[in-house]
Amino acid sequence: MGAGIAQVAAMHHHSVVLVDRDEAAVNRGVAAIERNLGRLVEKGRLSEEQRGTIVTHIRPEIGIKDFDVDVAIEAATEDLELKIELFRALDQSTPPEAILASNTSSISITTLAAQTRRPSHVIGMHFMNPVPVMQLVEIIRGIATSQATYEFTEKLARDLGKTPVEVRDFPGFVSNRVLMPMINEAIYAVYEGVGSPEAIDTVMKLGMNHPMGPLQLADFIGLDTCLAIMNVLYDGFSDTKYRPCPLLKQYVAAGWYGRKSGRGFYTYE
Ligand code: CAA
Repeated sequence: MGAGIAQVAAMHHHSVVLVDRDEAAVNRGVAAIERNLGRLVEKGRLSEEQRGTIVTHIRPEIGIKDFDVDVAIEAATEDLELKIELFRALDQSTPPEAILASNTSSISITTLAAQTRRPSHVIGMHFMNPVPVMQLVEIIRGIATSQATYEFTEKLARDLGKTPVEVRDFPGFVSNRVLMPMINEAIYAVYEGVGSPEAIDTVMKLGMNHPMGPLQLADFIGLDTCLAIMNVLYDGFSDTKYRPCPLLKQYVAAGWYGRKSGRGFYTYE
């Protein structure tokens, strides 16, 4: 998702530093952006010249260094320890007035803010996948987030052509508190043999007008991410209604993460 966020920011005239942990990961991000921009040129939505200019707005970097930025948007894997490490590093390496945002889909912004010396400048900025297409940015206030930080972030989301929605800092926020139990229930329906993945997805696509069925969407999000989010809901609310389906755990244990690994509820080339 980091590549999608970087692409959208660069398309809206921001200078972007795209950071990942190693060269291969940075190159994958840059390649995804180039592919997406290439498609927009083919469709006639972008001129070749605009494409070239957008690319020059993105500077790829390996690892966190001293960055003179106004805002950093963290979009790493949904892993609390990793995000804590990244927020500590960002706190050291960005100007003290910079805003530190997380694209986390469920982890507490208040917890991440507490790792820094600037909790008032920490906020959630939760984009949806695919970032260039989806309208929503959920903006999550941690308990210490200042009004100035909120207003800056809301304006930034609008500048990126998105629609911000303010939510409070509780597990899963709004998006995943509602979406993930539906996906988990669809997985239970497979587990209990109520229907095949195709049948369940067809019911939800044709019966409820969802653009993707819940299992296709789970594969698209990544089953490891779905499991991580269910665990955040389960632990955060201490409520068994959020227990992750054993079949989801088994798929993740097998390395069947969905689209990115080539196999989930469906198989991919
Ligand atoms: N990157 C950029 N653009 C993309 C894209 C991608 N990965 N995938 C599709 N698009 C663009 C296409 O180029 C196309 O653009 P135009 O209409 O302008 O030509 C448009 O999106 C529609 O694509 P398609 O016609 O190929 O396919 P579609 O109509 O089936 O739409 C979809 C694809 C937009 C992904 C649609 O299926 C959809 O909305 N699915 C649901 C997505 C969703 O729920 N996302 C949220 C997931 S949850 C999340 O992200 C947060 C979390 O915390 C887990």
